[in-house]
Amino acid sequence: MFLLGIESSCDETAAAVVESGERLLSNIIASQFDTHRRYGGVVPELASREHLRAIVPVVRQAVEGAGLSYRDLGAIAVTRGPGLVGSLLVGLVYGKALSLSFDIPLIGVNHIEGHIHAVLLELREKQQEIEFPALALVVSGGHTHMYYVRRDGSEYDYRLIGRTRDDAAGEAFDKVAKLLGLGYPGGPVIDRLAPYGDPEAIHFTRAKMKGNDLDFSFSGLKTAVLRHVQAAGMAEEIQRRRALLRENPRPSVEQWLEITPKSTLDLIASFQQTVTEELLRHALRAAEQRDVRSLIVSGGVACNRRLRERFSTLAGPYPVYFPSPKLSTDNAAMIAAAAYPKFLKGEFEDLSLAADASLSL
Ligand code: KG4
Ligand code: ZN
Repeated sequence: MFLLGIESSCDETAAAVVESGERLLSNIIASQFDTHRRYGGVVPELASREHLRAIVPVVRQAVEGAGLSYRDLGAIAVTRGPGLVGSLLVGLVYGKALSLSFDIPLIGVNHIEGHIHAVLLELREKQQEIEFPALALVVSGGHTHMYYVRRDGSEYDYRLIGRTRDDAAGEAFDKVAKLLGLGYPGGPVIDRLAPYGDPEAIHFTRAKMKGNDLDFSFSGLKTAVLRHVQAAGMAEEIQRRRALLRENPRPSVEQWLEITPKSTLDLIASFQQTVTEELLRHALRAAEQRDVRSLIVSGGVACNRRLRERFSTLAGPYPVYFPSPKLSTDNAAMIAAAAYPKFLKGEFEDLSLAADASLSL
């Protein structure tokens, strides 16, 4: 059974074909990096326009890359939310059009559920299964959500047990990078520069949570970094980094290091350390409270090397599973993978399926 996944919730237009929920046959991702970088973040109107340009060739490449034609598909899965509504609509409407033209069943998928299934897909490719119940931490530019996940056959049950009250973890990376003149998106560049700084140099105070102590808050940390930048008088070096970015949108680590003092690298490393430890602390507390068998960490921030290292060494009794970096950030393989259990249950949608920008899981 060949399932086509389509994902367009934010700034990547993606399509992928997965065979029987366990074999990735093609995985095409068109990034909009060059469109948005000069604005320092995703501009929703431009994102929709870029999706419109990319959707037809991206889907065609995914189907042809799998060695198939549209009529071979057993189902078409589309992301129906959460995300930018104009972006979601492009993938959703195209998926509906294909479903109608070729008479193929349509499946709607929650993007966050997709991030969790990225991990399960790659394990199944290696003939491995994870043990449930599991704790799933989805950390990306839009979400920092923790779920208690149970499985019964092909039935998955997700209970939200902690979430960010303000900025998502990836958003904090992006905002801090922007503030420091490191461009967009911020996560990858902070990840590459942090090893040159001392993660213990600056101690940021932890956010105190009233109510659910498994919730996160990252906006205070962002403000603390801002105060530090203002007090340290970093305007000139920030200008130098912005000038470098105008010349070269993808500077090398050496180029960054040439114009970035050690004190700033310490700030970068300490910021990354604070976010990582906060995620780890909450995940371990939740895992203990709920008595889970394994941890899943997924979403764009799960690419972070320090985060992977800390989770892998400190998660103690819990085996920790990450997707490969390619399936950590937004992709459509995860959407096709999350749709397979729904296909098995016959959970199909008709053409009234609507995009939902704030769909919850
Ligand atoms: O999952 P994703 O592609 O899109 C959303 O659903 O939001 O995640 C993108 C986010 C961005 O905020 C980006 O800065 C962050 O993931 N990110 C990282 C790394 N790579 C991407 N954050 C930290 N370290 C990384 N290596
Ligand atoms: Zn995502």
